[in-house]
Amino acid sequence: MGFAKDFVWGAATSSYQIEGTGRDSGKGQNIWDVFTKEPGRVYEGHTGDIACDHYHRFREDVAYMKELGLKGYRFSIDWSRVLPEGTGKVNEKGIDFYNALIDELLEQGIEPYITLYHWELPYEIYKRGGWMNPEIVEWFGQYARLVAERFSDRVKYFFTLNEPQCFVGLGFLQGCHAPGVKAPLRDTFEMAHNALKAHGRAVQMLRAYGKQNVQIGYAPTSGMCYPEKETPKDIEAARKALFALPDDLSNWTWNVSWWSDPVILGKYPEEGMKKYEKYLPVITDEDMKLISQPIDFYGQNIYNGRCIRMGTDGRPEEVRRPAGFPKTATNWPVTPEALYWGPKFLYERYRKPIYITENGMACHDTVSQDGKVHDPNRIDFLARYLKNLKRAAEEIDIRGYFQWSLMDNFEWDKGYAERFGIIYVDFGTQERIWKDSAYWYRDLIRRNGDF
Ligand code: NOJ
Repeated sequence: MGFAKDFVWGAATSSYQIEGTGRDSGKGQNIWDVFTKEPGRVYEGHTGDIACDHYHRFREDVAYMKELGLKGYRFSIDWSRVLPEGTGKVNEKGIDFYNALIDELLEQGIEPYITLYHWELPYEIYKRGGWMNPEIVEWFGQYARLVAERFSDRVKYFFTLNEPQCFVGLGFLQGCHAPGVKAPLRDTFEMAHNALKAHGRAVQMLRAYGKQNVQIGYAPTSGMCYPEKETPKDIEAARKALFALPDDLSNWTWNVSWWSDPVILGKYPEEGMKKYEKYLPVITDEDMKLISQPIDFYGQNIYNGRCIRMGTDGRPEEVRRPAGFPKTATNWPVTPEALYWGPKFLYERYRKPIYITENGMACHDTVSQDGKVHDPNRIDFLARYLKNLKRAAEEIDIRGYFQWSLMDNFEWDKGYAERFGIIYVDFGTQERIWKDSAYWYRDLIRRNGDF
């Protein structure tokens, strides 16, 4: 019992967060390239122009992955690096970069998992309306086709969208992420619908142009829910709460079912259709068919969850966290149960093999006087969460786990202020230092997750 023999122990990153632009790389601008240059948008004006300079240092980084014993590496392609204008002319230098990365990974025995969209919307596409323009469905489809044509001879595993909850919610509702717009509610529902259609079109294209039997998933997020006590009532309450839809429209994107029911079950949840009725775009049967193209596995980014019990009125209620409840450097609660109950509830509802596409924590890591980076909090966090995942893996089909993140990187509007890596990056010198958690993770992988 425990994790399957072929369990995929992985780590994840994304292009804008680590690559850096690369001089003369031929890359086009994406919305983050533009947003980070606007005053006041990102902590201390940080940008991803250099980031971890992975564009030049990927061989060193892959060598660390190999030493860690990673079986899989999840990274994203910057749409604007391969198609500088989003459509049309291909930047062959961009293709060369990803080809070299893929070859290096394979050489070291690490399976590449490509995310098509980790928020790198080409600025040219944004200027043409971005997610509001229905043509984006085809533009994204053509981009997926290019990825399939150029990389799928060697890459088998793909994720379409990363965290649509965030790129719509933070990007267009709250406006704290690129492009920093506070759009009317109606528009956000329309963008969400177009994004789901683009996902479906990408699935079709990957299958049509894939050079092998490609395996396709999706990587949404949201908080999970877990029961206060393991009683049938509390479990039922937690399940209900997990798939419920927020009443608070200013945060409507933060949920599971609006984004995953259409993709897997082929319909939007009834509760939302009623609650959000006056903001919805026209939704046709044809749209739903496109959105629900069969996928092979279900990915979910899981960081934390809410504790839920059945209220005396028969409705789920959230249990308040006691004072001093453990939290990460980004003030996210530490709730390891999320990695047992989350996948379990998701599996029950969607019946697809599951990958945890992200999980990890930010700590206030520093280089100590001994030259090392000691991060006991992260080791404790990962151990607690992975023990819960192990319990889930003994009950349901869990294929893999991608720790976020391989190395410290550009944490969006927080710039480099937050460190999520198991490898420390000195952003002045680009020196990488293994944190204690990296050694710990390497040993855990060697034991196939045996605690
Ligand atoms: C979610 C995002 O996918 C990733 O880009 C981000 O850095 C981590 N979570 C941590 O916030």
